[in-house]
Amino acid sequence: MALVTSTEMFRKAYDEGYAVGAFNVNNMEIVQGITEAANELKAPVILQCSAGARKYANGVYLKNLVASAVELTDIPIVLHLDHGADFDICKDCIDSGFTSVMIDGSSKAYEDNIALTKKVVEYAHSKGVVVEGELGTLAGKEDDVENEFSSYTRPEEVEDFVTRTGVDSLAIAIGTSHGAYKFKPGDKPQLRFDILEEVGRRLPGFPIVLHGASSVPQEFVRTINELGGRMPDAIGIPEEMLAQAAKMAVCKINIDSDIRLGMTAAIRRHFVEHPDHFDPRQYLGDARVAVKEMVAHKIVDVLGCAGKA
Ligand code: G3H
Ligand code: 13P
Ligand code: ZN
Repeated sequence: MALVTSTEMFRKAYDEGYAVGAFNVNNMEIVQGITEAANELKAPVILQCSAGARKYANGVYLKNLVASAVELTDIPIVLHLDHGADFDICKDCIDSGFTSVMIDGSSKAYEDNIALTKKVVEYAHSKGVVVEGELGTLAGKEDDVENEFSSYTRPEEVEDFVTRTGVDSLAIAIGTSHGAYKFKPGDKPQLRFDILEEVGRRLPGFPIVLHGASSVPQEFVRTINELGGRMPDAIGIPEEMLAQAAKMAVCKINIDSDIRLGMTAAIRRHFVEHPDHFDPRQYLGDARVAVKEMVAHKIVDVLGCAGKA
């Protein structure tokens, strides 16, 4: 199936009460693990590249890895820029074949966020590409930007923002945060469903996006630390809360850290079980299986998008 925009994907997800997974891709094994899981489960999927991913792998490699996945699968796939920081990054991705971009003006003043987002939307739409904007800030680290404090999205701003910018989807801050260290064990993570409901009421039919939605499965943190790792104890967003959000206006849920944890645990396990191995295909093969299992679990137990392709 061809590379698509998320327009039809989100319309169906909104109407049928599920969300599409947006998984970050950085290398071939990650692209393969994600798309093999999605293809077997007949789930639509979004593959997203951060600036860090483009710096690590080179955007041309990533684009062509995704093109290979499109050729080898039978599901709709979106190629999305994650956290575009400025107009030029978005333009570069639009010109090179991405079908969706995020312009992240969330750390800017409200009017500056509107002006930047509107400029990206005008260019993107002229090329048939869709745009995700963001209102409200998440705590955590995105590329080189560290936000120590989060501020929830103000529902009273969303209609004005969406109308004036023309964005196709909107990321909001309701208590999720980026990275593997979201909360300390014993903390009680809360999602502000009241804000999500109010946003949904003000923007009927409009797709909402949740970033920072890894749940930091404890078995992976434990495995990594039992096998020589030094990760601080941490917990993420409970999956039941994400599953609830997926039934509401949330149509796209971003997951990166959980894939990293699954791969790292698999590679550590590999070397403990096979200390003599040195062929990267052996340990990266295990890592690819871990990506596939993680994504299959998210599709079935969190997103609810199996069989929706
Ligand atoms: O939101 C950020 C994503 O997890 C991407 O992380 O910037 O380290 O590639 P990265
Ligand atoms: P996590 O760090 O929770 O996986 O969030 C990823 C993300 O939001 C990518 O944009
Ligand atoms: Zn994000």
